[in-house]
Amino acid sequence: MAKKLWGGRFTKKTDPSVEEFSKSISYDYKLAKYDLLGSLSHVGILKKTGYLTSEEAKKLEEALDSIFFSINNKTFKFDRAVEDIHTDIQNKLQKKVGDLVLKLHTARSRNDQVVFATKLYCKVEIKELYAGIVETIAIISKAAKANEHIIIPGFTHMQHAQPVYLKDYLDAYAAMLGRDASRLNYISEHIVITMGAGALAGTPISAEDYALKASEYIKEQGIGSVFNIKPTTNSLDSVSDRDFVIEIISALSILAMHLSRLAEDLIIWSTKEFDFIEIDEAFCTGSSLMPQKKNADALELIRGHTGRLYGSLVSVLTMMKGLPLTYNRDMQLDKEPLFNSFEIVSMELKVLCGIIKTLKFNEENIKKHLEDESLYATDLVYYLVDLGVPFKNAHTFVGRLVKYSIDNNIAIKAMPEELLKKMLSSKISKKELIKRFSPEFSVESKKSIQRTGK
Ligand code: ARG
Repeated sequence: MAKKLWGGRFTKKTDPSVEEFSKSISYDYKLAKYDLLGSLSHVGILKKTGYLTSEEAKKLEEALDSIFFSINNKTFKFDRAVEDIHTDIQNKLQKKVGDLVLKLHTARSRNDQVVFATKLYCKVEIKELYAGIVETIAIISKAAKANEHIIIPGFTHMQHAQPVYLKDYLDAYAAMLGRDASRLNYISEHIVITMGAGALAGTPISAEDYALKASEYIKEQGIGSVFNIKPTTNSLDSVSDRDFVIEIISALSILAMHLSRLAEDLIIWSTKEFDFIEIDEAFCTGSSLMPQKKNADALELIRGHTGRLYGSLVSVLTMMKGLPLTYNRDMQLDKEPLFNSFEIVSMELKVLCGIIKTLKFNEENIKKHLEDESLYATDLVYYLVDLGVPFKNAHTFVGRLVKYSIDNNIAIKAMPEELLKKMLSSKISKKELIKRFSPEFSVESKKSIQRTGK
């Protein structure tokens, strides 16, 4: 039976089913580094406040440092038999320093410990993900710049709407990712790393001692400068608050939703019907039955994974909603959704970067799509408005013209001038009208701040 962090008041062994059911080591091992940083801070605090002698503190610090080192160089072997990572580290420490380890738990509870470690983990992960988002934005912007002359049909309701520059289409995604990056940054800045909540009621150690020592240790470990360790303001809230987890998964869900929309656009664009783009073979897969197939599976998985993120968000929200104060074991179930969400979106960004870097735009084919006259109907309306026709009337006249063109299978450009004058306005000239059937004319006629083709 694996060693536990508790047990004094128990006479019976834990039932193996409960033992197995309550374990979190298979996933919370990811918190190892951050748990150690918490312990190092705690040793400093215990030394400063006289709970540990300098000698004892030194011994513990050396042992913690060596475990930290083994994690960094990947020689740390997680003990899958124990309850959680906190227990695993405690047991390993015991092997190194003997019963001295028993003092490390002075004024400390796993309830406090796990929040400390999870918050640090989140800050580090957000920092890394932020860099990944910035890189993705740079790659999208590069593709936009490289193809800045290309005009494509723009869509609303998946129907041809008006011509837009491809670069604006791509930059729209860069704008979404920019918001994602700032959202995550904001969340990270507002995560306050606290110590001193104890199990729920605080500890006999003063707030100043926590704040000072903890940030000193975190800083020494080289990841600290950005982390502001504060004394806890409400111990009950500190051990039972998981808002930061929910905020992060929610921000990651929004990010995943953006990536999913981009994936969907690319999937559609890569179909034979559209044929706007060529996705590099390295990012596609084939079919076991149909030899001709080149499927954009990676993009489909980006789209599909979004559902898993939403599921994670709903699972943590639901897990929290009925919990009385303070800590409850249910909260252990925030880890997998949180860790998975980070893993999924960072993988997605990596895959998307590769796809966009190698993406080819089929300019000639895009041009063929731009021949559709309906894309210029709005420009005809503006032409009539410029000639003094009220907008609503102009809209109706052009609408009738489009219908006439469809019903009689005749292109607007091929209609006699007399007919056009009759249907639109006597003031029009066919020459001027025909000018409007140009993608360049259409995009260049836009003048507002958000216009395409700035
Ligand atoms: N593995 C637990 C979690 O992630 C650690 C805290 C356990 N605390 C307790 N009182 N049983 O939430």
